[in-house]
Amino acid sequence: MNKSVPRFEHGSRVPGWDTPADLDKDPATIPDPATTPVPEQLRQDIETHMALYPDPRSAALPSLEEAQRVHGWCSPLAITQVAAVMQLTPAYLTSVASFYDMFKMTRKPANDVFVCTNISCSLLGADEFFEAMLAAAEGADVNVASFECLGACDIAPMASVNGEYVGPLDAEDAQRILDDLSAGRPVLPEKQIRYRRTVDPSPPTPPVPDGPEQEFATPDHPRPADTVGLSDADAQTDRVGGSGSSAPIEIPPELPRDGTDT
Ligand code: FES
Repeated sequence: MNKSVPRFEHGSRVPGWDTPADLDKDPATIPDPATTPVPEQLRQDIETHMALYPDPRSAALPSLEEAQRVHGWCSPLAITQVAAVMQLTPAYLTSVASFYDMFKMTRKPANDVFVCTNISCSLLGADEFFEAMLAAAEGADVNVASFECLGACDIAPMASVNGEYVGPLDAEDAQRILDDLSAGRPVLPEKQIRYRRTVDPSPPTPPVPDGPEQEFATPDHPRPADTVGLSDADAQTDRVGGSGSSAPIEIPPELPRDGTDT
């Protein structure tokens, strides 16, 4: 059974939608970078994301993700800092952040376990795992939520633990996830999708990494599956910040950069 969805006035799932806009308020303005302190690393990370896209606004999602990582949630301060670096209004970024379940507009626990309970995972025991995960996380600093298909049906039933995809899961894995999170270890390393080279269960399981520093191949550890086929240099380049594929979009110089084709 799913956790009940928090509701605000009139059944809205989004806080603030019941409050009429204050039409007497000054229009939202873009924060002045000169008077808006932003942690240096956060600024650099946002600028790195912006440089990857022809339209810097395309970096809104990864930039909000960076800010949520720093602040723990998309607080008004976090939104203001992203807005100052990206030169957007806080209202624009709030409209983006409030659309996605992965962004939290209220304080949340430090860890997220998103359990897929969609059809493929459900058929293979996701509901039982979800119940076990809720029980294991009782009282811990962990946000457990059920999710629609997370796009990794080949490892069903699966979950995203702080962004790391793990599966196939059984009920006993719930306590192991809790133990790994509490100890600050990589979560279920032998079940992380990044080390699976194929959905075929018959090939031998590659060695397990020792920790997060084993992000890339070493003589003792295999290359993560999502960098297979890339050179060592390209594997590093393609994984800016270690957060997945983020190669710059290359637009041939002869094409206009505004999306038109004339
Ligand atoms: S149904 Fe669970 S990942 Fe697709």
